[in-house]
Amino acid sequence: MGFKIGLLGLGTVGTGTAEILLSPEGRHPVVRELEIYRVGVRSLDKPRTVQLPPEILTTDLEAIVTDPNIDIVVEVLGGLEPARSLILTAIAHGKHVVTANKAVISRFGSEIFTAANEKGVYVMLEASVGGGIPVIQPLKQALGVNRIQTVIGIVNGTTNYILTRMRDEGADFGEVLADAQRLGYAEADPTADVDGLDAADKIAILASLAFGGRIKLEDVYCEGISQVGAADIAYAEKLGFVIKLLAIAKKLDVNSELLSIRVNPTLLPKTHPLASVNGVYNAILVEGEPIGQVMFYGRGAGAGPTATAVVSDILNIVSVLKVAEPEKGRAGENVDNAAPTPPL
Ligand code: HSE
Repeated sequence: MGFKIGLLGLGTVGTGTAEILLSPEGRHPVVRELEIYRVGVRSLDKPRTVQLPPEILTTDLEAIVTDPNIDIVVEVLGGLEPARSLILTAIAHGKHVVTANKAVISRFGSEIFTAANEKGVYVMLEASVGGGIPVIQPLKQALGVNRIQTVIGIVNGTTNYILTRMRDEGADFGEVLADAQRLGYAEADPTADVDGLDAADKIAILASLAFGGRIKLEDVYCEGISQVGAADIAYAEKLGFVIKLLAIAKKLDVNSELLSIRVNPTLLPKTHPLASVNGVYNAILVEGEPIGQVMFYGRGAGAGPTATAVVSDILNIVSVLKVAEPEKGRAGENVDNAAPTPPL
């Protein structure tokens, strides 16, 4: 009974995910029905902060994605390979996949979703953009009925944290970056954050959802924050502006099919809704017709927020599986029918 999870990765996000799954009290009742069945790690010897039976840990990641007992594979390894191949193998073996991997989705989304559609499985990616902020599902569902004009986001917690502390404390870039890494916000290679590539992956995903089609990383103009100095931030402040690394996808005009998609440091008037998004917080401002402006706001990086998005994706898949295979769940209990929409 219940749903078996194969967790690939036990770093920051994997550990946060395991912690939620191991402490179901007070959470959605379906969390009790999720079993961490196997966990794929790079090293069995590494000390862990989460208590898991040692026998479920393995370095054989391929064995997890091919295990006939596993229903859902959660990929939180990061990086392109072996993540991409493991996702594809999991799909080929009929597993649903939850991933936090924006780099794989922005580069190989087409291949992955084609494979998933052929196999009739779900690939869910709420954790790939905006950490704990529910933005992927709303863009696919509620906002999908709108004609989207613009998506503007602060979608990289590390650079927003750096820019905020440089402004507030006059802090040194390197010192703040080291703090962001220690707090688990930054990517393993922080140049992906600092050079805007992480934000570019994310806006490619958001733009694909908002405007349709498969927008790839190479379609995004990208400039990071390495050229932003303390003096720029101080001048901007004096003139009533803040400097934010914005990820922007917008239609060139209302009736146009042409899009401008870019990531670059931008001067924002202090009165702009995104100007007061500080620290590791992210926000995504969507403008659509007829809804007007909608803003999503929350912590965009770190274990707890990102794991929240991962587990919410698992619950979404399970809500569908419980309808399709009621004998697997506790039939009739908390089935909300909130089926994931077809993937990206
Ligand atoms: N390095 C990313 C960030 C992590 O700072 O936002 C979340 O995707």
